[in-house]
Amino acid sequence: MTEDKTLKAIQYQRGSLQILDQLKLPDISVYIPIQTVADAWKAIHTMSIRGAPAIAVCGVLSLAVDLHHSRSKFESIASVQQYVIDELNYLVTARPTAVNMTDAAKTIIDYLIPLSAKHQSIPEYIDELIAFIEQFLERDLADNRAIGRHGAEQIRLTTANPKKLTILTHCNTGSLATVGFGTALGVIRQLAANGDLQTAYFTETRPYNQGSRLTAYELVHDHIPHTMICDSMAGLLMRTQPVHGVVVGADRVTANGDTANKIGTYQLAILAKYHEIPFYVAAPTTSIDLTKRTGDEIVIEQRPSKEMTSIKGVNIAAEGVQVWNPAFDVTPAQLITGIITEHGVFKPDELEERLLALKNNKSS
Ligand code: MRU
Repeated sequence: MTEDKTLKAIQYQRGSLQILDQLKLPDISVYIPIQTVADAWKAIHTMSIRGAPAIAVCGVLSLAVDLHHSRSKFESIASVQQYVIDELNYLVTARPTAVNMTDAAKTIIDYLIPLSAKHQSIPEYIDELIAFIEQFLERDLADNRAIGRHGAEQIRLTTANPKKLTILTHCNTGSLATVGFGTALGVIRQLAANGDLQTAYFTETRPYNQGSRLTAYELVHDHIPHTMICDSMAGLLMRTQPVHGVVVGADRVTANGDTANKIGTYQLAILAKYHEIPFYVAAPTTSIDLTKRTGDEIVIEQRPSKEMTSIKGVNIAAEGVQVWNPAFDVTPAQLITGIITEHGVFKPDELEERLLALKNNKSS
């Protein structure tokens, strides 16, 4: 049987990386090669690959490919180290809001320095580093599956309705935004697999249409019951239809639980609060940034105006119009019912304590 590549954002084998060009979806499904860190930076910056976890995995794997092919150019282990640190620092600048690339860079740098004490041989040092970087693939997939299980269980157990559930989501947080399965869309996938899903409502997600282009593509592909709405229909939906929960992803969660996610998330959280609908953020702990206290410290990326004023190169706004195009907003912690992570579901106000306890347990 041939492997179904349709929903794989990232194809990797040692020395070779390809990404599904998400700028071309849903019309054309084409993979583009990523041969260097500079290729990855550009693909992330232009959003050929997007979604916080996929950005990080694409970034670090581009470094693995780069190291694999350039091993003969290094004269010392120290020069490999410096090269890796410089390239990681460069990758972090491709997009500013999601923390996952920064977190991945820190994880690799923390590993890289003690590793040099173990090796005299440059090729062996590089091989071990590449093997370490490759683990990001497995880890992301395992985290997403755990998020799916915890989230589906939480929503099922805390919903009084004994029948099937309707869930609203935003943006694309599925296989295309991760190594596979997804975060918020992973929770929906798991509910569907458990036979608990009536329908997944999802927004188009203006201005860049990650909902209508990408989430729609995934839900149709996987035969998951779904209903697309325009972003502006969410209020009426919540007022007139049963919605048992809203589940969204995250680009950065700060220590107090404030969450940056795709623009439009904040207004969904306000609507959910008004309509007394539980509002969940589903994210791996690699999306949690304990170095920032609150969402006020998060840098919100501004995207080019043409991403708002045109679709597939066709103008949809009056020529010369001035626009404001922030790619993300911050949802305050008090609007969030729970943060679904690979370790379980945390209330925003217990997030920091629970994470620090997990870290301490790991290191003891
Ligand atoms: O601009 P994008 O498409 O990269 O934004 C994506 C989101 O906001 C997602 O919700 C978030 O990255 C989580 S993806 C699992």
